Amino acid sequence: MSSYNIALNFEDGVTRFIECKAGEKVLDAAFRARINLPMDCSDGVCGTCKCRAESGSYDLGEDYIEDALSEDEKDSGLVLTCQMVPQSDCVIAIPASSTVCKTGQSTFAATVTKVEQHNDAAVVLELAVDAAGPVFLPGQYVNIDVPGSGQNRSYSFSSAPGDSTISFLIKKIPGGVMSTWLEAAQPGTKLDLTGPLGSFYLRDVQRPLLFLAGGTGLAPFLSMLEVLARTNSQQKVHLIYGVTRDLDLVLVEAIEAYAAKLPNFTYATVIADAQSSHPRKGWVTQHIPADALNDGDVDVYLCGPPPMVDAVRKYFDDEGVKPNSFYYEKFTPNVVQKAA
Ligand SMILES: Cc1cc2nc3c(=O)[nH]c(=O)nc-3n(C[C@H](O)[C@H](O)[C@H](O)COP(=O)(O)OP(=O)(O)OC[C@H]3O[C@@H](n4cnc5c(N)ncnc54)[C@H](O)[C@@H]3O)c2cc1C
Ligand code: FES
Repeated sequence: MSSYNIALNFEDGVTRFIECKAGEKVLDAAFRARINLPMDCSDGVCGTCKCRAESGSYDLGEDYIEDALSEDEKDSGLVLTCQMVPQSDCVIAIPASSTVCKTGQSTFAATVTKVEQHNDAAVVLELAVDAAGPVFLPGQYVNIDVPGSGQNRSYSFSSAPGDSTISFLIKKIPGGVMSTWLEAAQPGTKLDLTGPLGSFYLRDVQRPLLFLAGGTGLAPFLSMLEVLARTNSQQKVHLIYGVTRDLDLVLVEAIEAYAAKLPNFTYATVIADAQSSHPRKGWVTQHIPADALNDGDVDVYLCGPPPMVDAVRKYFDDEGVKPNSFYYEKFTPNVVQKAA
């Protein structure tokens, strides 16, 4: 391979992808891409360029001093970008905002290809991107400008990175800005998107995964499952998909398809409505099998509306459940401006 794809995640949630040539240091590759990562000496002496490598393999070089990066820091995944030479695609968390690093969000254009209604509860929106398929980390989101409204809304990709058709799973909110636009949206309409964004993304898969989805919070997990399927993952993955009403249960056939593609993937659907005849009722937390927690040696990913995310986090705290790692995304609604 002659180059690697490096995701730089800034602390304001912006992600920029840069190409790092074989043998090239991350700091130099970022500079080529006109991104000024924190640095001072560029010689492995000051430690100013210290960042966290979240995934990937790399050579840290030998030309730095212990004061700049200690053994413990190195063992905990910290790196010096002025020394680090990637040996695979990598994800690096930058402890500075994108603005400080003189960069910002990427924007791109896309064209509506499909608007598919599901049970009057949700919509699958498919877009063809005008250039190469956007790169993002599975689980991340974009902001989509809602035509004619002067507003945008955030949506998690439900498709896999790099595809030239991207998709989203969007809950229908009566009277909502995006929801109302979607009612009459037609194929061929151009949209402007900003992103990728967010720190909710699939990390290196090293242990069993537990995915907890609330409603359209299923979207990022579809992206993650597609990536796991494409990389022939053999890891144990359990998804619990909870919704409020029977009609909110959408895309179960898409999940079922992953049960066929991924040898160690299992899932369960749960409906909160007490009137439902569904076999599993209540909250996702009532349906977590003990073996899915694997005595704590599990990475938990949680996504959904804020009350659901807060309830699950409280449940884990109350029950003393301490997974190896715990990542969550809240689908926080925008503050809607009221007319004066
Ligand atoms: C990081 C992130 C990722 C997101 N990803 C997704 C996604 O993949 N799929 C998805 O469906 N949504 C997602 N959302 C939520 C999405 O951005 C919008 O808030 C949502 O789609 C409502 O937009 P709207 O324009 O239709 O309604 P708005 O015009 O924003 O809201 C209309 C009214 O409905 C209320 N409202 C908004 N959302 C809800 C709700 N869920 N339940 C009840 N009342 C509500 C608002 O407070 C307001 O009063 C995400 C949010 C964030 C922050
Ligand atoms: S910039 Fe000084 S150690 Fe990297």
